[in-house]
Amino acid sequence: MYKFNDKKREITFDKYNTPTPWMNYLSNGTFHTMISQAGGGVAFYKSPQIWRINHYRFFHLPTDRSGFYTYIKDGNDYWCPTNEPCKTKPEKWSATHGMGYTRFEAERNGVAVTATYFVGEFENALLWNLKIKSNFDKKLVIFPYVELGMMEFMRELQWQCYNKHQLSCYNMGDVLVYKYGVEDQPKPDETPLVYFSADVPPTAFDCDRDEFIGSYRSEENPKNVENGKCTNSTMYGGDPCFALELDIDLKAGEEREINIFLGTAMTEGDIQKSVEHCKEAGFVKKSFDALLAHWDNYLSRFQCEIPDKDAQTMINIWNPYQAERNFQFSRNISYYATGTFRGIGVRDTAQDILAMVPFDIRRAKDKLNLLFTQQYQDGHCNHYCFPTEGWEPVTRIHSDNHLWLVMTAYHIIMEEGKLDYLDEAVSFYDGGSATVWEHIKRSIDFCMKNLGENGFPLMLSSDWNDMLYKVCRKGRGESIWTAMQFGTVLRMIAELAKLKGEEEQVYLDIYENQKRLVNEKAWDGDWYIRCITDEGKYIGSKKEPQAKIWLNTQSWSVISGMGENGMRAMDSVKKYLDTPLGIKKIDPAMTTDYPTKDENLTSYNKGCGENGSVFCHANTWAIIAECILKRPENAYKYYHQLLPMIAQQKAGEWRYKAEPYVYASNIFGPESDKFGLANVSWLTGTAAWMYIAVTQYMLGIKPKWDGLEIDPCLPGEMLPAKVTRIFRGRKYNITITKNKRTFIAADDENENIVI
Ligand code: NOJ
Repeated sequence: MYKFNDKKREITFDKYNTPTPWMNYLSNGTFHTMISQAGGGVAFYKSPQIWRINHYRFFHLPTDRSGFYTYIKDGNDYWCPTNEPCKTKPEKWSATHGMGYTRFEAERNGVAVTATYFVGEFENALLWNLKIKSNFDKKLVIFPYVELGMMEFMRELQWQCYNKHQLSCYNMGDVLVYKYGVEDQPKPDETPLVYFSADVPPTAFDCDRDEFIGSYRSEENPKNVENGKCTNSTMYGGDPCFALELDIDLKAGEEREINIFLGTAMTEGDIQKSVEHCKEAGFVKKSFDALLAHWDNYLSRFQCEIPDKDAQTMINIWNPYQAERNFQFSRNISYYATGTFRGIGVRDTAQDILAMVPFDIRRAKDKLNLLFTQQYQDGHCNHYCFPTEGWEPVTRIHSDNHLWLVMTAYHIIMEEGKLDYLDEAVSFYDGGSATVWEHIKRSIDFCMKNLGENGFPLMLSSDWNDMLYKVCRKGRGESIWTAMQFGTVLRMIAELAKLKGEEEQVYLDIYENQKRLVNEKAWDGDWYIRCITDEGKYIGSKKEPQAKIWLNTQSWSVISGMGENGMRAMDSVKKYLDTPLGIKKIDPAMTTDYPTKDENLTSYNKGCGENGSVFCHANTWAIIAECILKRPENAYKYYHQLLPMIAQQKAGEWRYKAEPYVYASNIFGPESDKFGLANVSWLTGTAAWMYIAVTQYMLGIKPKWDGLEIDPCLPGEMLPAKVTRIFRGRKYNITITKNKRTFIAADDENENIVI
């Protein structure tokens, strides 16, 4: 079904009809494409909300349409190297996802095609490289095809009947051009034209989707492919597409290379230049080599060799790759997320940045600075922002957003061993500007000004857990988890204050007070309570009939160092929450009338999503907690059971459904009828935190102010471990044979460490 090739950093599939589309993201930071193992997907320029290029029909059947298709017309026969969407299938076929590229290798009737898709760094275009070889003399007609739509997907759903008449699609020389000319579009001056071209002259083209496809047909059997010729349709109002007809003659044994370019540029003149550039001899190869070199360089910053080869595949390749994609796309667009509204979530992106810090510190700082611009003078933050779309932010106040910013800034300082970043100036959302250090302090001020009757931070519009948005409707509900997050951050800011020569005690005093409260008021005998509602009800308590125990207040009692009974709390996690497919977020799952019908905490079915699923993101904190408690067997159990290929094997491919190479947000829990179904893969905080959990806590290689700490917490299955880690300009070769703490001081020149 699938096979990893770690040397090439690839995964190859021999079956196109995976249980769900298994995606890859191709991107140069400006032009992006999500593409599946069957060639379905969506391309967009900067933002899928306002500059979406092609149609992708979310939730429709057949699934995973439309995409980036090439029809090979061979006599009366026609097929696609992507396998989909034609009924006629290749005789031999495979698809491969690699770092920023996807390749299809297919054969039919003596014609072999290799189609490689990627976005290179030199042009904003999806490059589509076809190598076609025939065993016989052949006259083939090749039809590359993309179904276009309106660039603003939400407007398309609402206003397509009128606005589609403001779209144009036409031929300019041998280049097809699409113009989105819709009234009142958000940023008309920054809206690009889209182009489609090939490096062989087309015989004909189509710009009108219905002309190309025909009526009551689909991508499966386009009329013009069946007829073997395009009709030179233009489209000034209607449903656009790009289709080219390329007629090629092949001699037996001959191989031809054809490149297709789906790109964006601001003007027709810019399009001409861009296409000419793409067509230059060697351009596609140069772009592909640069892509490989980029990922080689990026991933070389942390590589390991360990006995658990599945874990090794994730640590070296797919986990940091997934984390980078999260850093770019936040929770915006995936097979599950439609890319219609969610821009940059402050909470989510602050966590994503954690896994960028070891790889590209400037990129990390720039993104964090963007998040700081969403902070108000009083220290709280907007919840979502839309810098690309220019939309108003979501201004809801949550109890946790501003605290994540402190944590991420701390990670940056520890990676660099310099305080300079704290002096960078960043504006506040409501005016004025201050240093990063000042921003951080305001986060603490905001928490202190928003404590509840019991002394814990007010829950406000929820903490990390979206489901808790009803706890504080009357402005009184408190979050015990946020108290623990606050505690974690207070220790960080105290350390930074000391380094800056400022008073640290003030933060430590607040920490001690919160710690006392957590132990006095939130310890329930076997675990820590989760939160207190407006009415003073304790959620996550033995006394309650439902949702008695919640994972996060157990793991963070340890992470924050606040829980005097942290070990016992984590024992309860094992006893009540652990399953063979990961740790449930709560137990037992709630009914939809708990605590009351009118003020229920959840509408989720039992075992789904926020209500008792295995929430992978939160599992990472249990791994970290077990490492802090020095219990390597537990940490490894929790880590290993969520490795996507392991979870998929255990649940079964057709139950798990999602990709075996990237983490999912959650897996349906045992109280659901679909225990083991993975949900919302790719874009999830699991990626960044799993990476932190395994590299900084299990392998234990953690940047500290004055050097690199190596404090592993590994079971036999992961020993010996060899790691190379680039840190402050040095490449350290670390061999770990046992769990023993070692410290490499920053001025120590020894780069070969054996423990
Ligand atoms: C997914 C959301 O994107 C994230 O912000 C939240 O923390 C988790 N769900 C948990 O509720």
